Amino acid sequence: MIIEPRMRGFICLTSHPVGCEKNVLNQIEYTRNQGAIAGPKKVLVIGASTGFGLASRITSAFGANASTVGVFFEKPPSKGKTATPGWYNSAAFQKEALKSGIYAKSINGDAFSDEIKQKTIALIKKDLGKVDLVIYSLASPVRTNPKTGVTHRSVLKPIGQTFSNKTVDFHTGIVSNVTIEPCSETDIENTVEVMGGEDWKMWMESLMEADALSDGAMTLAYSYIGPQVTEAVYRKGTIGKAKDHLEATAFEIADMLKHINGNAFVSVNKALVTQASSAIPVIPLYISLLYKTMKEKEIHEGCIEQINRLFRERLYTTSREIPLDEAGRIRIDDWEMREDVQNKITELWEQADTSTLSDIGDLNGYKSDFLNLFGFGLEGVDYLEDTDENIQIDELV
Ligand code: NAD
Ligand code: NA
Repeated sequence: MIIEPRMRGFICLTSHPVGCEKNVLNQIEYTRNQGAIAGPKKVLVIGASTGFGLASRITSAFGANASTVGVFFEKPPSKGKTATPGWYNSAAFQKEALKSGIYAKSINGDAFSDEIKQKTIALIKKDLGKVDLVIYSLASPVRTNPKTGVTHRSVLKPIGQTFSNKTVDFHTGIVSNVTIEPCSETDIENTVEVMGGEDWKMWMESLMEADALSDGAMTLAYSYIGPQVTEAVYRKGTIGKAKDHLEATAFEIADMLKHINGNAFVSVNKALVTQASSAIPVIPLYISLLYKTMKEKEIHEGCIEQINRLFRERLYTTSREIPLDEAGRIRIDDWEMREDVQNKITELWEQADTSTLSDIGDLNGYKSDFLNLFGFGLEGVDYLEDTDENIQIDELV
């Protein structure tokens, strides 16, 4: 069939298998062009199908020649309906890995459940024995806690006071004011349940118990800090509480991994266009100003550039010393947070309105990145060609 983007609000209902494949091929090519990494050998990526997790899987496999097990939660194609982008991304990844003789297997299911943890660990035990790197890159609005059976939903709200600031509808370019009422106490608890560190710790405990971590194994989860304009709704809001919890959990996991000479870190990454970040008010306006500023300064990065830098300049350097900030975190948001970048954005923020944004912000870059997430608007893809949506994933366990 001919597949076109079908937008509904902040999501796109369709995705293009050939475009998603092209996205993956571009990331593989970028990684290969950077040269080989003396990096991990056997890697588990939880949240491996899109965004930072996919980039981590590609960097491990095609940068370090590592075997990877990827876990994700994606919808397969059904009659006349396309799959979610992460499904097609994973199909393309598996195909390329197989072609290159790199071990790769994938599991599609709820990573928060005991069942998927056990299934994944059984696969690791059978095929790889142990892993030396575990990347935790889940982004989800909902989690059922396997211990209590309670389903929690995260919210994006300020804490204690009403938040009001500019935002943009990136489809129309209209800048308006958004007001968000403060959260309740249960909103905080629920958001921490979903996006905090409890599930990461459960994964690491289960892997440890099963003796599936090699000596010196490392685990990493991703966090975000961001600028002052988004602070009330992001880092000092409900999601920020979850990130605080995630960062605190890194130290607990690190303690546990000491017995095998292992370690656990949080890496603070740059703001990027993903399905998740597009739904957060104010963030799209900030990202469009950020992209413009970083592109002008020639320091703009996407997920794959970020993760390659993480592996090459933080995790697997020749000295093997990992540079950390005062709170013990890895920072690859260093270029985003540079003073000249942030000062410029503060200046632009004042000027931003519907008439100025197309000049002072990178609205087009935002839109094209958003479409790219779903496999649309990629160079070298013929979107008028009849396309098979019914693509399956090799080595799906
Ligand atoms: P994403 O939406 O692109 O990826 C989420 C991944 O999680 C996908 O592979 C998806 O299949 C998987 N997933 C979701 N629910 C699942 C479930 N129940 N079981 C199994 N898999 C599930 O998100 P992303 O932007 O790459 O975010 C990954 C991490 O990076 C998050 O912790 C996020 O906060 C962090 N981060 C994001 C940004 C940003 O700007 N996007 C910046 C810094 C840090
Ligand atoms: Na991810």
